[in-house]
Amino acid sequence: MTKLTKAVIPAAGWGTRLLPATKAIPKEMVPVLDRPAMQWAVEEAAAAGLSDICVVTSRAKSAIEDHFDTAPELEAALERRSKTEALEAVRRTATLAKLHYTRQASALGLGHAVAQAAEHIAGEAFAVLLPDVVMEPSSPLLRELVSAHGRTGASVLALIEVEPEEVSSYGCAAVEPVPGDDSLVRITGIVEKPSPAEAPSRLTVAGRYVLTPAIMEALRRTEPGAGGEIQLTDAIEAVVDSDEPVYGHIFDSGLYDTGTALGLIEANVAFALADPQLGPAVRKMLKEQSARE
Ligand code: G1P
Repeated sequence: MTKLTKAVIPAAGWGTRLLPATKAIPKEMVPVLDRPAMQWAVEEAAAAGLSDICVVTSRAKSAIEDHFDTAPELEAALERRSKTEALEAVRRTATLAKLHYTRQASALGLGHAVAQAAEHIAGEAFAVLLPDVVMEPSSPLLRELVSAHGRTGASVLALIEVEPEEVSSYGCAAVEPVPGDDSLVRITGIVEKPSPAEAPSRLTVAGRYVLTPAIMEALRRTEPGAGGEIQLTDAIEAVVDSDEPVYGHIFDSGLYDTGTALGLIEANVAFALADPQLGPAVRKMLKEQSARE
């Protein structure tokens, strides 16, 4: 089996849940602490050995490409002013990974966005990271998915248990135990945004996937599903139905959905509290604020 090196980061969606903030800037560029959500995803992929990244963008997303490019005028200005730390931070963004860009011409859904990367993926297994799901940098999750794929050769999805009323916002999986492997479950069915009555479990797809090439083949045949969009979940269901094993890796922490206002605030508070420089001041600020309420 060849070593996994490729990742796809879909970044073509509108970000309607954060309007008006995302009217003129891509939702992936909304900051969590000192860097955009997108940079957290690129760093997470690179840390798991996936440094060949295909970003699927759309119109009005050029800020993403600029962010990961060099910025000669800015760098020269920072150098002249001896702003060493800022200069390092700016330079670093251009060296994190090898980024390739492809565009999704119309917003036909997450599955359609991932399918735009097929040429770049070229028949290999690959990871998918949804960038509005930001993981704590210390989370081993993506490395664990990569290693589970290494052991099984199969697709492996990160699953997290949510409250019953939240299930219909996500992809939701039916699972069964894997004899002899406590760290994985076998996915026996998966459905996108089920009604509470249809939901097969409370285990939802958490925005991190390792997928085999079979998914690209399945995506070619996938018809529009939930919300009238071509869903990645439906293509995964087709792979499950084909009897190729698809596994789930259940985890329970370290994830922030920054696509919602509350998730974005939560991520910023958590990352700020964990920051050695900012942490103590932010902790004090939060205490004072809640005392004032
Ligand atoms: C997407 C996927 C869904 C997954 C979710 C995770 O939904 O379609 O299966 O559970 O991301 O955040 P979206 O958030 O784009 O509606």
